[in-house]
This record gives sequence, C-alpha cells and structure tokens, in this order.
Amino acid sequence: MNQTDPTPTALESRTALHDRLHSPSAARNRDVIANVLSRVLPDQAEVLEIGSGTGEHAVAACHLRPDITWQPSDPDREARASQAAWASEASGAIRAPLEIDLLRPETVEVIDGFDALVCMNVIHIAPWAVAEALVSLAARKLRPGGVVVLYGPYKLGKATAPSNLQFDASLKSRNPAWGVRDLEAVIALFAGQGLVLDARVEMPANNLSLVFVPSSSRPGSTR
Ligand SMILES: C[S@@+](CC[C@H](N)C(=O)[O-])C[C@H]1O[C@@H](n2cnc3c(N)ncnc32)[C@H](O)[C@@H]1O
Repeated sequence: MNQTDPTPTALESRTALHDRLHSPSAARNRDVIANVLSRVLPDQAEVLEIGSGTGEHAVAACHLRPDITWQPSDPDREARASQAAWASEASGAIRAPLEIDLLRPETVEVIDGFDALVCMNVIHIAPWAVAEALVSLAARKLRPGGVVVLYGPYKLGKATAPSNLQFDASLKSRNPAWGVRDLEAVIALFAGQGLVLDARVEMPANNLSLVFVPSSSRPGSTR
C-alpha cells in the first residue's frame, strides 16, 4: 500500500506460493496484454512498470520479447517481494523491484530515463493525482522514440460499458477519490504534456490498451 492511502488496491483474492502472489485477473489477461506490449515496445527497450502488483505481467511480456529489460515497481512491500520471486522466470530480464509511489516525489525523482513506461490497472484504483504524476514522469524521463502504455477500463461517454459503470460505482464506494477514468480526460492529460494517443486497442472485458508517444515523434511533426 502507499503511505497516503491505506485502502487495499488489490480488488481480488490473491493466492501465494512462497513470495509469489498469483492474481486471477492477471492470469486471465496477461497473454493478451503481453501480445500488445510485444508489438509496441521499442527494440531492446528498457521498460519501467508502475504498480506492477504480483509481477506476472512482466514475466509474460519478457517471454514474448527476450530483447527487453523490465523494471518492476510498487509502493507495496508484499507486491515487490512477489515481483522479485517471479523475476527468476525471465532469465535475468527483470530487475530487482523498486519502491516507487507516484504520490511520493522522493521515490520518483531518483528514476533514470526509460524507453517505455507501462502502467496497468492503476489509475482507476488511485486518486487522479496518480495519473497526473504518471504523465509528468513520462514527459520528463521518456527517451526519444519511447512509448507509454496504459491498460484498464475507461468511461467512453454514452458508449461506456454497463460493467464499467458498475465497477466505477463500486470503486467510489470504497474510496471516493477512485473511479474508472474518462478516456477523453486521460487523453487530454497526456496531450497537455506533449504526449499524443498513437494507438487504442480494444481488449477483452471492455478494457483498453492505450499507447501514447511524444508528439515530436509523430510523422509530420515540426518539433
Ligand atoms: C489493481 S493493482 C494492479 C497490479 C498490476 N498492474 C496488474 O494489472 O495486475 C494496482 C497496483 O497499483 C499500485 N499503486 C497504488 N497506488 C500507487 C501509487 N501511488 N504509485 C504507484 N503504484 C501504486 C498498488 O500497490 C497495486 O499494486
């Protein structure tokens, strides 16, 4: 858990074998997410993941893309122990987890540059300030040619899936600062820091993968 919000952010019952936590939702979606990541991550990318949870997504991605290195992170000690335990499945591609809490600047300022920033299922289970800090981090430390990949549910105006509206209500009942984020608001937040939506991929269960890139790297950009 982060220090500013004591509400648990794993919304499911996880099982554990030694330090390795197992997330039922990650088991369902890690292959489709890894498939998207394998297509959009730059060659030999150094990837920073925020809010890595159990660490299972990192393993799936590194299996599909043996050229990348993956830096997991989480504010939660138990999650970091799980990430370290799962890392042995990836032949050295996954680094020792970092304690990064986007609401604690001292844990963010020490981060080096990266070629990809990945954040899955975090910004709706955290205050909006976490999304703001994520985008600020990307704007400051994403290397040229880099990408930001978000995964999760979004509100799409009248086209919002009923299941996501129910999820939104349930999140807000747990913590009024949480909630399924409005896609347009997320895109505007990134755009305000010079990052534009490059791809939107429909995922199972009414989730989206969103890929953002610096506007300067888009064809036709004069920046
Ligand atoms: C629902 S879990 C998602 C875990 C994993 N990304 C996945 O998709 O399976 C949300 C994660 O976000 C992390 N988190 C919550 N607040 C955070 C913050 N302020 N900064 C960074 N990570 C945070 C939690 O510790 C938790 O591991």
